Amino acid sequence: MLSTFSLGLLALAASSEVAASPEPMQIRPHKIDLQSRKTPKGHVSALRKRATAAIGVPLDDFFLGTDLQWFGNISVGTPPQDVSVVFDTGSQSLEFATTDCTSCTQKNKFDISKSTTFVQGSRTSTLDFATGVGVDPVVNNDYVLTVRSGTDTVTVGGVAAKGVSLFTITKQTPKFNIDPFLGIQGMGSSAEGFFAALIRAGLPSLFSMFLTPNAVGNAELLIGGIDDTKFKGDLIFADQTGEGDWEVTSSQISVNGKTTTLLKKTRSIIFDSGTSNILFDTQTTNAMYALISPLIKPFAAEPGAYGLPCSQIAGLPATIDLTFTSQAGKPFNLTIPSSELNVGPFASDPTTCQTLINAFDGLELVGGSVLKHYYSVWDVGGQRMGFAPNGF
Ligand SMILES: *[C@@H]1O[C@H](CO)[C@@H](O)[C@H](O)[C@H]1NC(C)=O
Ligand SMILES: *[C@@H]1O[C@H](CO)[C@@H](O)[C@H](O)[C@H]1NC(C)=O
Repeated sequence: MLSTFSLGLLALAASSEVAASPEPMQIRPHKIDLQSRKTPKGHVSALRKRATAAIGVPLDDFFLGTDLQWFGNISVGTPPQDVSVVFDTGSQSLEFATTDCTSCTQKNKFDISKSTTFVQGSRTSTLDFATGVGVDPVVNNDYVLTVRSGTDTVTVGGVAAKGVSLFTITKQTPKFNIDPFLGIQGMGSSAEGFFAALIRAGLPSLFSMFLTPNAVGNAELLIGGIDDTKFKGDLIFADQTGEGDWEVTSSQISVNGKTTTLLKKTRSIIFDSGTSNILFDTQTTNAMYALISPLIKPFAAEPGAYGLPCSQIAGLPATIDLTFTSQAGKPFNLTIPSSELNVGPFASDPTTCQTLINAFDGLELVGGSVLKHYYSVWDVGGQRMGFAPNGF
């Protein structure tokens, strides 16, 4: 999910302490290039033990015919309560539903009164999202969270970070009610929250995502490491140029091996693990669909969405190649296969199937439909992203 407000929250992130590092989940050792490692601001005086082993967080796939989001547990509070979150590279803060939120219909909400370490802050804000939970475009600010600041201990993989800045959701728009998770853990391109605390405790400042399709399973977020058993060949790294979000410069988009002058222009593409569809401006979207099929039309009931009769979608070729340049100066493609074109029938018109590309002027963004075909490394220290084809 891409938060349109989250950059403003960076200033609120307080420094936190790491208390202990008991047995994190067992991970095979991996080579990690730490040449250009950069530690986040702030320093920790009360470190007792250094966190050195990468922490694996198993992820569930929120699947509704289409892979939507991958989510897993962090623990918050004392004693710890499991809080399920989307690990979202399109936002920067942690926010989740509590039992105080009456408009939050999720189960197992966080109970503030049961945590002895929770400290309520005084700041309230609203978070607007430019991309939401499923495959539908955001219309009229229908993804909005009202939140209140606080701090608490956050434990991930047995490593506890004290006093982590967070937001509790006091109100949410109904679009969030289908979520099987309680909240969102921002994983932006500058380390925040528990991730910043882990880095200060000695963990390499990167994380890796293995966002597999539903049929494959075993998705995982690996914090502080790279699992080279999960991909084929070598990782290719490209510069990350976003401020807060993750962006890589692309030189060309091709559809079914063809490109156009418009699709050949240099653009900055945001990588958002919390978004399932891809978003391009209207002109680019139309140019891409023109290379797929004239049958694909804007879907009037949901501005920004496109579709075609479900009976005509099977077998439509729609291979999308996004071309980037590696740090070594070589072009490489990230490819979205034709199988991603159909994201399922519209709820309001089940005979029309929605297609992958949403029009959104002012934003060029890709997410799960690309990431589930690649192992991805999000290197905060090196300000670069790495990709290799998933090894399943
Ligand atoms: C998160 O924790 C709950 C129990 O609190 C468990 O049922 C669920 O399977 C966990 N989810 C993942 C992805 O590990
Ligand atoms: C990337 O994809 C385009 C379009 O299919 C193709 O022409 C080009 O050769 C590919 N580049 C690489 C490096 O594979």
